[in-house]
Amino acid sequence: MLQGRLFVLGLGPGDPDLMTVKAARMIAAAPVVAFFAKQGRKGHARSMVDGQMRHDVEELRLEYPFTTEVAVEDPRYLAGMNEFYEVCAERLRVPLQTGRDVTLLCEGDPFLYGSAMYLFDRLRTECHAEIVPGVPGMSGCWSRANLPMTHGDDVLSVLPGTLDEESLLACLKLCDAAVLIKVGRNLPKICRVLRAAGLFERAVYVERGTMEGEHIVKLAERKDGPAPYFSMVLVPGRRYAR
Ligand SMILES: C[S@@+](CC[C@H](N)C(=O)[O-])C[C@H]1O[C@@H](n2cnc3c(N)ncnc32)[C@H](O)[C@@H]1O
Repeated sequence: MLQGRLFVLGLGPGDPDLMTVKAARMIAAAPVVAFFAKQGRKGHARSMVDGQMRHDVEELRLEYPFTTEVAVEDPRYLAGMNEFYEVCAERLRVPLQTGRDVTLLCEGDPFLYGSAMYLFDRLRTECHAEIVPGVPGMSGCWSRANLPMTHGDDVLSVLPGTLDEESLLACLKLCDAAVLIKVGRNLPKICRVLRAAGLFERAVYVERGTMEGEHIVKLAERKDGPAPYFSMVLVPGRRYAR
């Protein structure tokens, strides 16, 4: 067993005040902090902990080899990301081997579509590995949008916008409320599917929820233009609303 411990920390939806007390306390004490970042960017999770870390902290920047340049269905994507996560796990093993604890940052909640899970999966049998939950991005978004999402027996689905049109439509037919994440370049497809499902008028678009530059609007009233990485579409359930 590796002597150091791995802590995977959920940082919440963006507003630093929505970080848990536990996460804030652990960041302030962490000797080694690891985080993912896109090429040429500081890293969103890293920015969220600006000014909160120890002055002598060791930072491990884990830079994605690509993000949207290679399509998810391209075999190169899976192979490239697999190799990337192997290299990342190896980098985390170095401090862990010498008994130093590593704190891996993650936006929202780590177990909800977080990349940190891939390192947790690789290292969990080799060391003490622990998850610190965070407020999920969707929770921050529907709260800021003042949107009650599920009433009574409403069924909620979380759907990646990267799914194909047919799958998205089939999933939407099975639920009362939906959260569509990974919107970005998939927004036109998401709009088509919501129209086909008769849900377009009910949908709300949230960009950068709880963060600086937040923008919330009914999807039907959104002006054309690209959607950023941090955007989602919310479809509140209405079947059991009283
Ligand atoms: C890979 S998932 C990670 C989700 C994260 N672990 C969580 O618990 O929210 C990233 C997607 O979540 C959505 N997202 C997360 N936080 C958001 C926010 N504050 N505002 C808008 N969308 C957000 C976006 O659709 C984004 O593409």
